[in-house]
Amino acid sequence: MLVLVAGLVAPAYVVLLVAYGASTEATDVGYAPAQPIPYSHALHAGELGIDCRYCHTAVEVAANAAIPPTMTCINCHALAHGIRADSPKLAPLREAFYGGERVPAGLPIPWVRVHDLADYVYFDHSAHVRRGVGCVSCHGRVDRMEVVYQAKPLSMSWCLECHRNPAPHLRPLEAITDMTWAPPAGADRVEFGRALLKQYNIRSAEYLTSCSLCHR
Ligand code: HEC
Ligand code: HEC
Ligand code: HEC
Ligand code: HEC
Ligand code: HEC
Repeated sequence: MLVLVAGLVAPAYVVLLVAYGASTEATDVGYAPAQPIPYSHALHAGELGIDCRYCHTAVEVAANAAIPPTMTCINCHALAHGIRADSPKLAPLREAFYGGERVPAGLPIPWVRVHDLADYVYFDHSAHVRRGVGCVSCHGRVDRMEVVYQAKPLSMSWCLECHRNPAPHLRPLEAITDMTWAPPAGADRVEFGRALLKQYNIRSAEYLTSCSLCHR
């Protein structure tokens, strides 16, 4: 590893990290912090079938997927005529939006972050979503989660496994948020993946595994 790093003139911090002997097996699989409101993806994305992009609006155009502003929830849960407008479970939402006795209106809801890559890793949602990598490949069955948890290791070896051979993970763009999509019955999965690889102009494994792609 060190020889490889030296040979590639990697940034000094990478060399340092290797010297510290940190492991590539960083896993927080199962991490599911409690949230300030018992918001359920199983209900909203699963049962109600609201598309991921209704709330995570930036996922196709930016590095970050974006957590929705309170207004997105108020669209349905407004005080006047909203769904479950008087639910105690929604009290923190109403307080954030309308203000409370001691709280001004318009404070953001303090959602607790679930996935968090180290700062020295560059990641971009749009680069994946616009090349046919679906949410479920990296986040698991979010449509079944009462509380969001980290489903995959998000370690370097996990990223590289796909970057070495992305074809079997690719799907049509219209199925990007579909949690249950499968290739058409009878289709050869290998052939199907290869065709998409070409269509999306996916670059070589060599390019996709070069250190500077993710450590900039
Ligand atoms: C109605 C709005 C809404 C919809 C629809 C929605 N989400 Fe979310 N999502 C949220 C909110 C709010 C949070 C932050 C609270 C939480 O983690 O539960 C969140 C958090 C997440 C997180 C964790 C973010 C972190 O902190 O790391 C992931 C991953 C995620 N959503 C994926 C999805 C996927 C995939 C879909 C579609 C299957 C989806 N969401 C649909 C509102 C939504
Ligand atoms: C498109 C409409 C829609 C949006 C947008 C929406 N919800 Fe909901 N929400 C619903 C429906 C429908 C229910 C189920 C109501 C029922 O069970 O009768 C619900 C139920 C809930 C409940 C459970 C309430 C209870 O008393 O059991 C919570 C909590 C909740 N939503 C939070 C949120 C949050 C937070 C957001 C924003 C991130 C959000 N919702 C966005 C439609 C929506
Ligand atoms: C190739 C893997 C991959 C795919 C595909 C992917 N995500 Fe993520 N997602 C991640 C990683 C990695 C993070 C943590 C990013 C960080 O810490 O900088 C993340 C973080 C998030 C977050 C937290 C906010 C943010 O942007 O950091 C949300 C919300 C989210 N993803 C939603 C989605 C949705 C919705 C989709 C599908 C439309 C999706 N993701 C597709 C890997 C992926
Ligand atoms: C399931 C497959 C898959 C996983 C998992 C995955 N990627 Fe990717 N990644 C891709 C594909 C496909 C592309 C698009 C390649 C292209 O456009 O040539 C890509 C492109 C990228 C790019 C290039 C973005 C640009 O600017 O062009 C970066 C950076 C990246 N991935 C980082 C990561 C990181 C970091 C992880 C792990 C946290 C990860 N990826 C996990 C499939 C994956
Ligand atoms: C596809 C993206 C990707 C590529 C390509 C990549 N890395 Fe990483 N790297 C990661 C991720 C993700 C982590 C773990 C971040 C975390 O734990 O939050 C990581 C962590 C590291 C660490 C920290 C210690 C460790 O092992 O966890 C070092 C050192 C490192 N990478 C060196 C390299 C070198 C050298 C190369 C080129 C041979 C490389 N990386 C290529 C994504 C990548």
